[in-house]
Amino acid sequence: MEPAYSDKVKSPLQNMDEWEDDLLVRYPESKEKQAKAKDDYRNYHDSEKVDTVREFYRLNHHYQTYDFVVNKQKEFLRFEKKEMSFWDAVDYLNTLVDDSDPDTSLDQLQHLLQTSEAIRADGHPDWFVLTGFIHDMGKVLCLFDEPQWAVVGDTFPVGCQHSDKIVYPEFFEDNPDFKDERFNTKYGVYSPNCGLDVVKMSWGHDEYLYQMVKNYLPEQALYMIRYHSFYSQHRENAYDHLMNDHDREMFKWVDKFNPYDLYSKVPVPPDSKALRPYYEDLVAKYLPPTWKF
Ligand SMILES: [Fe+2]
Ligand SMILES: [Fe+2]
Repeated sequence: MEPAYSDKVKSPLQNMDEWEDDLLVRYPESKEKQAKAKDDYRNYHDSEKVDTVREFYRLNHHYQTYDFVVNKQKEFLRFEKKEMSFWDAVDYLNTLVDDSDPDTSLDQLQHLLQTSEAIRADGHPDWFVLTGFIHDMGKVLCLFDEPQWAVVGDTFPVGCQHSDKIVYPEFFEDNPDFKDERFNTKYGVYSPNCGLDVVKMSWGHDEYLYQMVKNYLPEQALYMIRYHSFYSQHRENAYDHLMNDHDREMFKWVDKFNPYDLYSKVPVPPDSKALRPYYEDLVAKYLPPTWKF
């Protein structure tokens, strides 16, 4: 039996965005920006921030086992915990910002708006804009006091061998599945090219939101939501052996979405008040008036 998680092991990150800042260093937009990103990263907190991200992944890789995911799915995918309007959920997400962090003056709503406005500016269909606008709403898991490492971070398949292309792969040695022969072979509980739909991913905001909205959005949007943190696949192609042709086709959309998520930060934040009516209409067009969490 795994021990219960004390508060100490729940929240190594001062702010959940630290994980996303780290992604920018790992996957910079261009070679030129790579140098700048590394500089920015060094200047900020020096090594302290790197240490917290490292600690965050140590916990994530230790505790995200196959059984952990099964249990979280049982607990959360009944959607019996709370019912609220979409906009109340957005307001809640905004309380997650830590104002003391100089690097993240943008709140969650700003990140969502910057992502969706960049998609809109490129002339994509409205469901794609909506996908950008809601893609991180699964972070409301924090409302239920979930540990950070079970809400954000790179996601990866559980129930089979962990790829060495996943960030900090050495930490998987502490994961009980690492020594469990049901789970530690290339295919584990799966079969070659079985398709991602039957593959359980580490638990977090991606799968949670996917399950919440799966009856309302086009399939391309659902892939973007469900796999947007699956960096070892969409950036490193580490799990092609589990994917079928349909997944490969759909991942073109995940690839299309990723730059909007990572690289849409702009110096002047969008005017959330002015934009609200547009997004109210868009949300109402596709999604029910209240959401069950
Ligand atoms: Fe996300
Ligand atoms: Fe995001």
